[in-house]
Amino acid sequence: MIRSAVCGVGTALPRKIMTNKDFESFIDTSDAWIVQRTGIRQRHIASEDETTASLGEKAARRALEDANLTPDDIDLIILATATPNNTFPATAVEVQYRLGMHHGFAFDIQAVCSGFVYGLTTADLHIRGGLAKRVLVIGSETFSRILDWSDRTTCVLFGDGAGAVVLEAIEGEGTIADRGILASSLRSDGSQKEKLYVDGGPSTTGTVGQLRMQGREVFKHAVGMITDVVEDVLNQTGVAAEELDWFVPHQANKRIIDASAKKLGIAEEKVVVTVDLHGNTSAASVPLALAHAVSQDRIKRGDLVLLEAMGGGFTWGATLLRW
Ligand code: UT7
Repeated sequence: MIRSAVCGVGTALPRKIMTNKDFESFIDTSDAWIVQRTGIRQRHIASEDETTASLGEKAARRALEDANLTPDDIDLIILATATPNNTFPATAVEVQYRLGMHHGFAFDIQAVCSGFVYGLTTADLHIRGGLAKRVLVIGSETFSRILDWSDRTTCVLFGDGAGAVVLEAIEGEGTIADRGILASSLRSDGSQKEKLYVDGGPSTTGTVGQLRMQGREVFKHAVGMITDVVEDVLNQTGVAAEELDWFVPHQANKRIIDASAKKLGIAEEKVVVTVDLHGNTSAASVPLALAHAVSQDRIKRGDLVLLEAMGGGFTWGATLLRW
């Protein structure tokens, strides 16, 4: 059977780094509070000339280089974002243009922080359905542009950046010994909208709006949602949590990551954590963490890697793959 395997990864982070201390001059907060409650120490913030499309393009070029491929080899670009360059066209199409691609097709996915997992699953279906052989899956965000910088309960949590992977069709045996994506699980529940949303949009206020979050409420639901989809992919494949080599969770809060790993029975040394470096970068968080672990030679060919994310909507999802 056809499997979708990762053959390249790439990232792009804005030049400017903002530390926790930098917030102390304009809101009532402290480095100690942010580190203790979230694990975040710094985040990258896009300058005027850096956009979701430019960061996405850079990450895509690096993933292509890592895969030893060129844009000519790509059939489809899926870009996950909640902060597109324009309301339309899709930022994926702008990245397609920036890469000099005049063939194939491109579209955006909007599932907020779960966007990259939704994107991977969608790419996998296109590959296994025969619509594409090689797909660029990008998570790119400039959340700094939708933050209320006077709200200390949200503005310290998020950052900007992009991560990308190239997925390609390979032959598998249909067993869990195959390389590539082995199982995915996606969920959403619109009844929880007011807990995490942006208070604007083209069809309502006609403005971009700003991020609003009831952090404690999101926190209460997070671990349950994460373990729900993770247990689903483990059940689908018969893989036990102890057999996983790496757990690459969405990077929103170190306490959520620790509690999820503990509940699932995943050892601490198998958990990839980058929230300290990047903050919560929404759809970019999982590919940024994945690429970080790959660059440190931690994730190796043949390893079983579990990805998960949850975010606004609510949306949540998990993917199990063999590297
Ligand atoms: O990717 C999408 C998913 N999003 C998430 O996963 C976020 C989930 N939520 C969280 O990570 C946590 O709930 C937060 C980090 C947002 C907040 O941590 P918490 O332990 O739940 O704190 P809290 O909201 O219960 O607030 C505790 C106190 C409050 O003061 P009072 O009411 O106890 O006097 C807040 O006003 O901390 C205060 N506080 C702050 N203090 C200093 C809130 N933000 C700050 C701040 N600096 N930046």
